[in-house]
Amino acid sequence: MSAAGVNRPESSAEGFGRALRDGLRSEPRGVAPKYFYDRQGSALFDRICELPEYYPTRTEFAILRQHAAEMAECIGPQAELIEFGAGSLQKIRLLLGALQRPARFVPVDISAEHLHAESQRLAAEHPGLLVLPLAGDFSADLALPPPAPGSARRVGFFPGSSIGNFAPADALLFLRRCAGWLAGGGLLVGVDLVKQPALLHAAYNDSLGVTAAFNLNLLARANRELGADFDLSAFHHHAFYEPQHQRIEMHLVSAREQSAQVHGERFDFAEGQTLHTENSYKYTVAGFQALARTAGLLPQAVWTDPQRLFSVHWLGAPGA
Ligand code: TRP
Repeated sequence: MSAAGVNRPESSAEGFGRALRDGLRSEPRGVAPKYFYDRQGSALFDRICELPEYYPTRTEFAILRQHAAEMAECIGPQAELIEFGAGSLQKIRLLLGALQRPARFVPVDISAEHLHAESQRLAAEHPGLLVLPLAGDFSADLALPPPAPGSARRVGFFPGSSIGNFAPADALLFLRRCAGWLAGGGLLVGVDLVKQPALLHAAYNDSLGVTAAFNLNLLARANRELGADFDLSAFHHHAFYEPQHQRIEMHLVSAREQSAQVHGERFDFAEGQTLHTENSYKYTVAGFQALARTAGLLPQAVWTDPQRLFSVHWLGAPGA
C-alpha cells in the first residue's frame, strides 16, 4: 500500500474557514456537508451507522451480503474498484469476498487520517490486494491515478446513499463525471428510497442524540480549528422531511439571539435562525434510473430489501 494525493485543500482549515464564512454570509445560511468529516465527525458518523433507528446502513449491508455474487458478476474479473467516500471500509469487505481477482482497490475519502488507518487495516486483512488510498474531495474534480496495470475495467462503488447528499443537479454532474471516469466499466451505487416520513424522521432524530452530536460537531470543529467561539449549548439539531423536494433537511438552529465570531468576523443569529448543514434526498427506483440515464449511464440491475427501504443500482458506463 502507498499513500497518494495528500493534497486536500478542501478539508484543510483554510478551506473549511472560507466555506464556513461564505456560508454564514449567504442567505439562507448553509454549508456543504463534507465539512462534517474531520476525525471526530468520521467517528460520530460510524456511530450513526450502528443506531437502531438508522435503517440505511444495515439495510444496505443486507442487500450487499445477499446479492454479492450477482454484483460481482456485473463487475466482472480483474476490475479496479474505486470507492467514493469510503469511510471505515466496511461495505467493500462484503464485495471483496465475492469479486474475482480485483486488480486494485482505490478508496477515496476526505478524512485523510481515518482513510489511511482504515486502508492499512484492510490491506493487512487482504494480503493479495493492492490498496491505494486517495485522500481527496470527490465532489470537486478528482485526479484519479492512471488505470491499474492488468485491470480489465474500472468500477465505481458509492454506497451509503451519499449521492443523496448532493442536490439533484449536483448528483447529475457527479454521475456524468463517473460516466467519464468509469467508461467501459460501471457504477454500483446505494440509494435511499422515498418512504413513510415517520421512518425517515426517526432515522435522523435518534433517541441517543448521536445525529445531533454529529451535526453540532461542525461548530465544535470550527471552535477547534478556526478559533471560533460558537456556544454549542445554544444551538440545536433540527432534522425534518421536506416532501416537496423528497429530502431530509438538517439544520443547526440558534436557541436565542446571539453572535459568534469566525476568524475575527462577527455573525449575529436571531433566535430560531438556522444554518442549513445537509440535505439527504430520497429517490424512487424509477426516478433514480431516469437521473442515471440523463447522465449517460445505463441502469442494468437493481436490488432492494423486501420492505423497499433502500436500493443498490448497477449502472453500466458505455465505453469510449
Ligand atoms: N448519506 C447518508 C444519509 O444521508 C449518511 C449521512 C450523511 C447521514 N450525513 C448524515 C446520516 C447525517 C445521518 C446524519 O443518510
